[in-house]
Amino acid sequence: MPEKSICFEYEDCLIDREHLQHEYARLQSEVGHIYSSAQQQSSLYETDYAFMELPFDESMYIEVMRVVKEKQLLHPAAIIVLGIGGSNLGVCAVQEALCGVLGNKREGLPIYYADTIDPEYLAELIEVVQNILKLGKPVLLVVTSKSGTTTETAVNFDLFLQLVQTYYPHDFSRYLVIITDFGSALWKVAQDLHAACLTIPNKVGGRFSVLSPVGLFPLAMLGIKIDELLAGARAIINQCVQQNVFENMAALRALIIYIHNKQGAHIHDTFFFSASLKQIGAWYRQLTAESVGKEFDLLGVQVFAGITPTVSLGTVDLHSVAQLYLGGPFDKITTFVSIKKMSSDFILSRGGVASRLIGLSQDKSCNMIYDAILQGVKEAYRKSKRPFMSIVLPEKSAYFLGQLLQMEMIEIVYLGYLLRINPFDQPNVELYKKEARQLL
Ligand code: PA5
Repeated sequence: MPEKSICFEYEDCLIDREHLQHEYARLQSEVGHIYSSAQQQSSLYETDYAFMELPFDESMYIEVMRVVKEKQLLHPAAIIVLGIGGSNLGVCAVQEALCGVLGNKREGLPIYYADTIDPEYLAELIEVVQNILKLGKPVLLVVTSKSGTTTETAVNFDLFLQLVQTYYPHDFSRYLVIITDFGSALWKVAQDLHAACLTIPNKVGGRFSVLSPVGLFPLAMLGIKIDELLAGARAIINQCVQQNVFENMAALRALIIYIHNKQGAHIHDTFFFSASLKQIGAWYRQLTAESVGKEFDLLGVQVFAGITPTVSLGTVDLHSVAQLYLGGPFDKITTFVSIKKMSSDFILSRGGVASRLIGLSQDKSCNMIYDAILQGVKEAYRKSKRPFMSIVLPEKSAYFLGQLLQMEMIEIVYLGYLLRINPFDQPNVELYKKEARQLL
């Protein structure tokens, strides 16, 4: 029977069950709170847990698909997402996971991200876009900004709009989709330009917005089954609100990270054994860092709380950072993320050159070797007394990615609660934005 859920293993977290159960007392009321909130989905949009209502919002799904169908009729030759942070990391994570690391070089609609105002990168991207436009093919600009006033996105919108206007002077608005908060300055621009506009539910924060139109629209344009992504997110909620901590993977993960953090392990490394999942790490990095890295706690006491999230890739990083991880300071907790059933494999025969170089006793597949290395790494972590957890996706699909993303968002809410900080704001980021604007 096919597995229905991502699998979480914590036997090697180096915290015993009594300790976990004991610390859980701090979290139990929040689990109860989220459990009862999840029972009344319809009112979640008014609360900080608004992101948990997204997978249940049928009218949002219908509206996203309406705009997708409208824009597919234009037959765009590429999509350019103009957005930064929570406005593009989730799209990139799911796109790369499901379309592959080299997705843009293969069949299907290519997608590019304008998430910086580095002029050299922009020059490259503008050249790519211009080459498409010169061939008489349209590109679709997806401008995403919750606030509508993020400097980088505003600058890129201006630049790419000018480009599209050059080739489509009369009907450029057709090649625009704007995703923002209702009533924002960007929303007003969308109205003025008569451009398609999708709104983000007000209380859904940027880094919690991957399952809103922010993620759903571009992903659906790429042909990704967003209904399955949402179904996965719905299906995992039950396992994230269980009162029994040992059946609640989001709470368990938060507790394990929290306890290690208290004991001096301030770094959480997510070690992917799947190249195409690496961008999930970039998304989770922002989710963790912006949510729990806080100067003040809920009472206004200066606490400088935080976990530093890092991302590693197996097997590549075994040849760069594994020495540090196994021999260096005891300042990390690791999560290994892997896929049980890879969609491709290759056989190496006993008579081949690999066999000659590394001595294979029989025919072996790439998957067998990849898995042997992962198991070897885990064993090395055990022997070196390095704590770790594992997440295994039964296979790489929109459904299991939906589960993973939703579980990790709930986990971070729990972690914020344990650290007694507000996981939904980002006051120090606002500070740099304000300072930069003054200089401009
Ligand atoms: O999580 C957040 O709120 C931030 O990381 C934002 O996503 C990021 O700053 C971009 O903001 P906006 O979507 O308003 O352009």
